Amino acid sequence: MKPNPKLLLVLLTFGVVLVTGFKSTTADYVRPPPRENLQFPWNPKPSSHPQQVHISLAGEKQIRVTWITDDHSAQSVVKYGKQSGKYDSLAEGESTSYSYFLYNSGKIHHTVIGPLEDDTIYYYQCGGEGPEFRFKTPPSKFPITFAVAGDLGQTGWTKSTLDHLDKCKYDVHMIPGDLSYADFIQHKWDTFGELVQPLASTRPWMVTQGNHEKEHIPLITEEFASYNARWKMPYEESGSGSNLYYSFDVAGVHVIMLGSYTDYDESSDQYSWLKADLSKVDREKTPWLIVLFHVPWYNSNEAHQCEGDNMMESMEHLLYSAGVDLVLAGHVHAYERSKRVYGGKSDSCGAVHITIGDGGNREGLAHRYKNPKPEWSVFREASFGHGELKIVNASHAFWTWHRNDDDEPVKSDEVWITSLNGSGCIAERSYELRKILAAP
Ligand SMILES: [Fe+2]
Repeated sequence: MKPNPKLLLVLLTFGVVLVTGFKSTTADYVRPPPRENLQFPWNPKPSSHPQQVHISLAGEKQIRVTWITDDHSAQSVVKYGKQSGKYDSLAEGESTSYSYFLYNSGKIHHTVIGPLEDDTIYYYQCGGEGPEFRFKTPPSKFPITFAVAGDLGQTGWTKSTLDHLDKCKYDVHMIPGDLSYADFIQHKWDTFGELVQPLASTRPWMVTQGNHEKEHIPLITEEFASYNARWKMPYEESGSGSNLYYSFDVAGVHVIMLGSYTDYDESSDQYSWLKADLSKVDREKTPWLIVLFHVPWYNSNEAHQCEGDNMMESMEHLLYSAGVDLVLAGHVHAYERSKRVYGGKSDSCGAVHITIGDGGNREGLAHRYKNPKPEWSVFREASFGHGELKIVNASHAFWTWHRNDDDEPVKSDEVWITSLNGSGCIAERSYELRKILAAP
């Protein structure tokens, strides 16, 4: 039988498509466009029932429970216990509310409960009414797993990322800024609260703020008014005077959350607090030192180039002297992981920097990268996804990044990270650190 030239052409074309298709699953793979904003059908609840429940760490063996009620006379009380329906403990907290043009928030309750046992499931009820919730406290020792996803928003991709987080067995979720993308439309903070409640009411969510949290209208509204009212973090517990920067310890890890949009120069309150916080770090007790903020310092994407330079100039030397292991940032809607870096180039005593602003927001991905790739950049890709950081022991951690591949999480980057603690870097830098910490 003679070969059909038309059939050969079709087969050849199909083959080329197949080959390029397989090639496209490399780090150059370009993901599909952003998805539509999620729709939230009107779902009224009794006015005293809790809405938008989320929890966060609030000092040693304590959890802050946050929720909102339409009823402004509802009590800020949490009943809790280790058996479903049997609450043998009770705590009373505080509440706040805010107005933003014609919008008036519900009553925002913040109640700290504890002391709690480590790695234990608790059942709780907010305000004495409504459904029962449950959470698990983090372990007190290694291993511990963190989930990481920045720039979440509330689109179809956000939902996909949240579904993937739900499947991963994490102890604490960390968000390096840009949560709701409410962008002045206050009820979108409420829909975001409802969207994340199934996850955020079951594991601590620890957040820092991004530019989308600012919502500042000069002379009319304060910066971060909604964010500060709704996402209270343990700043008082960590000696900070601002909800925009704070720290916490969990299972041998000291995590520092910094603010990219509040003063960070050497004369600022944030810088002074950071020095005081670092002076208290005991690497015997917390061998791992991790820092989060919104705007990345090491970024080879065309998007948001150099925006982090001023903060980096002010603070990088301090973090380097303290032996920070890992820096997690967001803002750029893509993923990038660096080698250990300092001063713009590879340095075995510097931190690994990871940009992970690819949670799924409505603005879509940042596709364009600078070429050639800088020597410090190991892996970069414009895809939605999330990260998982398993700190295995005092010296080793396993980082994975999961691409949101057509609604399936696909592990696309992985690396073992060794803590700088015990590497010689910290001893080498200790004189410099003491000098910076002692400076007025
Ligand atoms: Fe941002």
